[in-house]
Amino acid sequence: MKKLVLVVSVCLLGLALYSTSPVSGNSASGKDASGNTAEKTSLNFAKHIAPIFQNRCEECHRAGAIAPMSLVTYEQVRPWAKAIKEKVVSRQMPPFHATGTIGRYDHDPRLTDEEIATITKWVDSGAAKGNPKDMPAPKTRKTGWTNGQPDLIVTAKKAYALKASPTDQYVFFVFDHVFTEDTWIRSIVTRPGNPKAVHHANTHLVPPSLKVPDEGYFEGDFDPSARGTIMISGWVPGSNDIMLPEGTGVRIPKGMRFGIQIHYGPNEKETTDQTSLGIYLADGTIRKNLQMLFGDRKDLKIPPGDASYSLVSKRTFSSDAVIRFFHVHMHLRGKSYAFRFTYPDGRTETLFDVPNYDFNWQRSYVFAEPIKVPKGTSVEFIGTYDNSAKNKFNPDPTKTILWGEKTTDEMMQGRIFYESATEDLNLKVKKGRVVTETASK
Ligand code: HEC
Repeated sequence: MKKLVLVVSVCLLGLALYSTSPVSGNSASGKDASGNTAEKTSLNFAKHIAPIFQNRCEECHRAGAIAPMSLVTYEQVRPWAKAIKEKVVSRQMPPFHATGTIGRYDHDPRLTDEEIATITKWVDSGAAKGNPKDMPAPKTRKTGWTNGQPDLIVTAKKAYALKASPTDQYVFFVFDHVFTEDTWIRSIVTRPGNPKAVHHANTHLVPPSLKVPDEGYFEGDFDPSARGTIMISGWVPGSNDIMLPEGTGVRIPKGMRFGIQIHYGPNEKETTDQTSLGIYLADGTIRKNLQMLFGDRKDLKIPPGDASYSLVSKRTFSSDAVIRFFHVHMHLRGKSYAFRFTYPDGRTETLFDVPNYDFNWQRSYVFAEPIKVPKGTSVEFIGTYDNSAKNKFNPDPTKTILWGEKTTDEMMQGRIFYESATEDLNLKVKKGRVVTETASK
């Protein structure tokens, strides 16, 4: 541990004295036959970089996962050294779009300043390999269901045939399973059938009123939340599987089904995907229903070329609240999204800020420690759009953009998931169903 601290401080010093030759240290120690001195004075992949990449990159950058290349072995990493430096310094990698202290969010993938400095210095000093003996043991990853076997698994009717395509494809699948009774659940876990292809997926509750085609899906540009579905979670590669705390649940009303909107990235070869959801039913006593404060505007009218068009939606908490997670949803012109809180004592605070919204990386932002706010706290949901040619995702900067379900239309949805601090439903549930006192005995 002490050695690592030393190395990091040496590397920061190296960064400060950028003009001194970064290779001199290397060549001097290279003469040392024992190798010991070399380890102390130079950064190398095996000892210093591989442990960071194991924790922060491999989840996506390994065989069969979403990213275009593996970053597991030195040989795989070396050709990408320059690009890696660029992407970590600009904080484009690992992908994460909310600001705030690192560790504020559960499963927070962001690199620390020290880690970025270490990577930078390693690249600048020639990206040495180091001694393979120093490589950390390969990371074993949980495959299958990270929260244990689900109580219910719903799967798309059959494998979906994805065409080879240089552009993105969207499909909204509706699962057959109908909840025949009100059902309380604690978790929904997304398991992509083809992790290489699934770029993001939002789970919705689908009301009986939505007429679903026989094949069980809607293809193309279709945003189900414009048709009465309720989005309840957002998944991207690398995001965490939320399990609500004991005593808190989500009530799935009778008659509902689940649906999932999947965004597939460009793919060279035709392939298939059959994604599943694992559902964990509540058991025991439910005290709190997970609630949602929903900020939304449908009167968007974004002028052509406008690089910064903002709308605000205001909502107020009607009880003391314990906030668990946030989610925002816009389309291709989405530029930034912020939640500004005003407390009953007049204090204001921006509790959530996504300064560079990216449609490709819609995730739920789950707090490591839930945030408590008093009754009467109001929230301004502030969505900002870039309809100019400078927005690289903008398919047409000459159009006025209105609200709509296509990714080329816009939406402005902000969601705050919370529990009421004072609610106590005291419901006895067994396998998700409410049981009466007598029946439970
Ligand atoms: C959550 C998944 C994920 C994680 C974690 C992640 N990446 Fe990536 N990375 C991607 C994807 C997907 C791409 C392809 C481009 C895109 O979609 O943004 C990519 C692209 C890149 C590229 C550019 C490749 C090119 O074609 O130019 C580099 C370099 C890179 N990542 C490095 C890293 C490093 C280094 C880390 C860890 C410190 C990391 N990434 C962590 C998913 C991830």
